[in-house]
Amino acid sequence: MKLAKRIGWILLIALIAIQFYRPAKNVEIGDHSAVFLSETNPPQEVKLILETTCYDCHSNNTIYPWYNNIAPVSYWMADHIRVGKGHLNFSEWESYTSKKKDHKLEELVEEVEGGEMPLKEYTWTHKEARLTSEQKEMVIAWAKKSRVLYQLGPQPQ
Ligand code: HEC
Repeated sequence: MKLAKRIGWILLIALIAIQFYRPAKNVEIGDHSAVFLSETNPPQEVKLILETTCYDCHSNNTIYPWYNNIAPVSYWMADHIRVGKGHLNFSEWESYTSKKKDHKLEELVEEVEGGEMPLKEYTWTHKEARLTSEQKEMVIAWAKKSRVLYQLGPQPQ
């Protein structure tokens, strides 16, 4: 009993202590994905879907929920964003080659078709990010169309 109490105190102190260490936030104001949007030209509905259900982990600007202020949630979230951005970052679209853009869109179709993205952990807390089959179809149609653009390569001016 005495030991359990001691462990309880240690855990509580540790939990308080980690609150002082906050991972850097992923926030960039302005048109951070302008190149991506102008090149792939998504219809308004698709743009909105991407912005509200993918950008939190795949762009340089995350809209944080209040509970991100609590550690260890903040660490966990920062890690998802770091890994998600490493795989695909709409804010750094200009740094990808046409081949890579095409490939990323191919993966996007697969992820959305298979219901893998947005991540389950995300849709648990963001119910509005659960895509309907109609929304998925719109995103897939747009991505497939954009792929053709990159496959054709640069066009003569
Ligand atoms: C909560 C964070 C989060 C959200 C929201 C999210 N993703 Fe992801 N995404 C990740 C992570 C993390 C990975 C890395 C692979 C994995 O864990 O499956 C990933 C991987 C991917 C990949 C694979 C890229 C590759 O190189 O293999 C694609 C494509 C993708 N996401 C598209 C999307 C799309 C489209 C949306 C919105 C409909 C979305 N994601 C929403 C976190 C997220």
